[in-house]
Amino acid sequence: MKIDPWSSTTYQDYTRLRDEFGIQKFSEDLWKGLPHPHRLLRRGIVFGHRDFELILDASTKKKPWAILTGLMPSGKMHLGHKMVIDEVIYYQSIGADIFIAVADIEAFATRGHTLGETKDLALSEYIPNYIALGLKPENCCIYFQSKNQDVKDMAYILGKKVNWSQLVATYGFNGSVNMAHIFSPLLQTGDILHVQLEKYGGVRPTLVPVGVDQDPHMRLSRDIAQAHRIYNVTVTKDNKIGVFVKVDKDVEKLLDNAEETLAQLDFTQLKRITDYKAIYINEAKKEDISKIDELLAKSEVKLGGYGFIQPSSTYHRFITGLTGEKMSSSKPESAIFLTDLPKVARKKIMNAKTGGAVTLKEQKKSGGKPDECMIYELFLYHLIEDDRELGNIYNSCKKGEQMCGNCKKHAADLMEKLLTDLHEKRKKANEKIKDYLR
Ligand code: TRP
Ligand code: SF4
Repeated sequence: MKIDPWSSTTYQDYTRLRDEFGIQKFSEDLWKGLPHPHRLLRRGIVFGHRDFELILDASTKKKPWAILTGLMPSGKMHLGHKMVIDEVIYYQSIGADIFIAVADIEAFATRGHTLGETKDLALSEYIPNYIALGLKPENCCIYFQSKNQDVKDMAYILGKKVNWSQLVATYGFNGSVNMAHIFSPLLQTGDILHVQLEKYGGVRPTLVPVGVDQDPHMRLSRDIAQAHRIYNVTVTKDNKIGVFVKVDKDVEKLLDNAEETLAQLDFTQLKRITDYKAIYINEAKKEDISKIDELLAKSEVKLGGYGFIQPSSTYHRFITGLTGEKMSSSKPESAIFLTDLPKVARKKIMNAKTGGAVTLKEQKKSGGKPDECMIYELFLYHLIEDDRELGNIYNSCKKGEQMCGNCKKHAADLMEKLLTDLHEKRKKANEKIKDYLR
């Protein structure tokens, strides 16, 4: 199986995806350690991750870390688009540096939108909504791919460590794909890794919250990050922790540097074997790998390298459309747009697919199916913050105590509040946009 980031497929079987691509389960112990964990994290909507432990660790120890995400505007912003930004705003509240890429070059290369069209849509629709949703200008930078020279340089330079076969294996490209499209994964890698350049805050854990369709880009970015490292820290065959120098020049000097770095972490029982370009650390354990790697990464910058820490990622489920298919800008009845008038949203909600039974009598007897209900999904993803309140709706639906008509009204009322609030806040957003752009 291949994931195609540019197709409109939605991937339903999340467990299978996770297993097939080596994505880890986003388990309780990962979010429980965070301050006031966000509902999307608590409720299993964020279902998978790579290396989220690095983020948890940085957040717990109050060390710097960054969030980078990107958007490719396609029509009006709807509830599906709101999810990533909800996550980003939460991470901002717990101390992350925020970077948001407007993927105008990617939109041009893969969808044929001009840079001007993407710019207009980002400025009139997406960024005002981000601000209305609560994104703060402090430690936050929104930029356009086409205007960030460092990102473009990165994309070109990082391309040195990727070859055509790798792109074909990852994306299924063939000879008829245009070059700008072929280059776009490298640009996204530029987005993701540039935040670790000195100018943007330096080497630090970086989290990329995305939908699972973006995982190929994550795998590529992680491979490229690793390929640019001077050192590799791993568990050896005989279960020792070893630091290996990956380059052939100045090996002695690099081993000296590694020893000094390890001494800073109080590792002293070291066995150095220059022929293997290796240092084995007797007293280190598996759990120590990430902190050793992090300090070595930082030392690489002083040696003239990039020292990229492999970016972490989380993957969220997609919200289903109100009609039961994909939520999509091109099918207005499937989506609630953040600029919908409350009465328009109400009508869509009233027409939505529910998990109710065919007749009222039947529903009272056997209950409804909240797990298959678009209204319940609205509560779960967007409308109800309190877990207990949500649980009550779930249970009373299952028991047949709650009927769909009332339930839809409840959802429409909550949606009205949300939309009116956004409408009010958007009014003041325009004059603030400049505080976010870099
Ligand atoms: N490719 C993403 C999309 O289709 C947009 C994007 C560009 C992005 N750069 C990124 C996402 C960096 C995450 C990280 O929407
Ligand atoms: Fe969905 Fe509510 Fe109907 Fe249950 S009662 S199926 S949650 S609309």
